[in-house]
Amino acid sequence: MNIKTVMVIGAGQMGGGIAQVCAQSGYNVILNDLKDEFLTRGLGVIKKNLNRAVSKERMTEEDKNATLGRITRSTDLNDAKNADLIIEAAVENMSIKTKIFETLDQAAPAHAILASNTSSLPITEIAAATKRPEQVIGMHFMNPVPVMKLVEIIRGLATTDEVYQAIEEMTKSLSKAPVEVEDFPGFVSNRILMPMINEAIYTLYEGVATKEAIDDVMKMGMNHPMGPLQLADFIGLDTCLYIMEILHEGFGDSKYRPCPLLRKYVKAGWLGKKTGRGFYSYE
Ligand code: CAA
Repeated sequence: MNIKTVMVIGAGQMGGGIAQVCAQSGYNVILNDLKDEFLTRGLGVIKKNLNRAVSKERMTEEDKNATLGRITRSTDLNDAKNADLIIEAAVENMSIKTKIFETLDQAAPAHAILASNTSSLPITEIAAATKRPEQVIGMHFMNPVPVMKLVEIIRGLATTDEVYQAIEEMTKSLSKAPVEVEDFPGFVSNRILMPMINEAIYTLYEGVATKEAIDDVMKMGMNHPMGPLQLADFIGLDTCLYIMEILHEGFGDSKYRPCPLLRKYVKAGWLGKKTGRGFYSYE
């Protein structure tokens, strides 16, 4: 399978990062979002990241311009007709994702692979919205995409070996490390990460230690680059709650019950860094 053009759906934090690493690795990229202003914002972040790479002498000015020149803007999902691989990084909502996949399935050429960057929704269910479930797969990048090495590759129930191998190869061509995972709630990354974060929130809720102390223990004692509460703010507390609910519902096991303090913060609109307040304040 020869992948030359990658379409990325969503120019937010994840989609923008995915578009950047694909363009940097020589792929033609069609960056798609609902509105022009979202594309402008996403491309602005990509430019800022590339400028930093130039200033640190990790990239030449020519390479930067060539990378940016490989990205085209799109607000029409039918542009999928020009893509060999489509990576969807839209909001984490099953009905929105299934609508996008239905449209992509109609528009994309027969050989195209449809991938989702979902962090926790079932790939098998997304694939069932298409007439090509064997060509649907999960490509779960980590945030911040340009920095993190891992891509979890999730096989849906029908995903073929050929499609898996093509995506594994493509991931390596981005200088990322693919890890193969089956389609179960939270995959591997969030099945392990989110209960740790949730437990850190329980530790705070029960008054065992302050937020700073909890984060210090994990940073200095376990060499984590960020403490779990700081990481929760970075990911978004609404996302953490959403994933805990998917684990809780998916396994029916009380060990995944979300901490009441997490629910309270989300209800208050304290969603972490993006709203200026979570466990910490960012104003
Ligand atoms: N985009 C691009 N580059 C970024 C970046 C971003 N958003 N954030 C940081 N960087 C770059 C910086 O520019 C810097 O690069 P230089 O080498 O040019 O200096 C480098 O990363 C290191 O950054 P900093 O020195 O500012 O800070 P740091 O050393 O603390 O690293 C970090 C920042 C990489 C984010 C680090 O704190 C870290 O690894 N944190 C944990 C991240 C993590 O766990 N991610 C997974 C989240 S879970 C997920 O994504 C899955 C899910 O489904 C929820």
